[in-house]
Amino acid sequence: MRLYVNIDHVATLREARQTDEPDPVRAADAAERAGADGITVHLREDRRHIQDADVRALKSSVRGVLNLELGAHDEIVRIACRLKPFQATLVPERRQEITTEGGLALRGPSRKVAAAARRLTDAGIRVSLFIDPDRATIDRAAQLGVPAIELHTGRYARTWKRSDAALRALARVAAHARSRGLAVHAGHGLTYENVQPVARIPEIEELNIGHSIVSNAVFWGMEEAVRRMRQLVDEARRL
Ligand code: PXP
Repeated sequence: MRLYVNIDHVATLREARQTDEPDPVRAADAAERAGADGITVHLREDRRHIQDADVRALKSSVRGVLNLELGAHDEIVRIACRLKPFQATLVPERRQEITTEGGLALRGPSRKVAAAARRLTDAGIRVSLFIDPDRATIDRAAQLGVPAIELHTGRYARTWKRSDAALRALARVAAHARSRGLAVHAGHGLTYENVQPVARIPEIEELNIGHSIVSNAVFWGMEEAVRRMRQLVDEARRL
């Protein structure tokens, strides 16, 4: 299973003082040394954390995969097409939100998402759509012809302590997505405590984890924080 580490909040800390530390490139290097298969960053329209220069620097420094999250906004899609990360994950984006709140709805014609996915694909970028875990949305994603989806694990992260309903739903829709030929990724709200049941779902091949790793890096250092998550994921996969 691939583990991609989202380092947005390294940039959040830097932007809190608008200075030059901590450096996301250094964080990415530490994460990769500790076993991350890839680095994920979200270039938001409001540039609240990751900046254009960060994405450019990461494009040349990351040794594994660079996964760029982006909303279907013209300007950001243009930047992505120019920079050509290996993978682009389209996410919904609202200016006032604290973090990406739900998955892409893909209701109706979802023309903006379809057009963005096409432009990114034409630029040679592997496209993934961040969606809520329900069958109808997966079917719409499959119709758009993208190779991959990322299942939003937010509901699971909020409810796993009291119910296994969200986990069962993730397992069901992951199998459905696979049967429609989609590669299945997952992420949002995953922590050292709750990651293993998700990592055990066989159809899920990639996890994107940010906040919990960066939070614990404050205490353990980035390498140790990634190493511990890597161990949990690998252990869950072996069981
Ligand atoms: N996947 C996507 C598409 C996201 O937008 C985010 C949050 O930036 C994550 C994964 C990682 O979520 P978290 O920071 O809660 O681990």
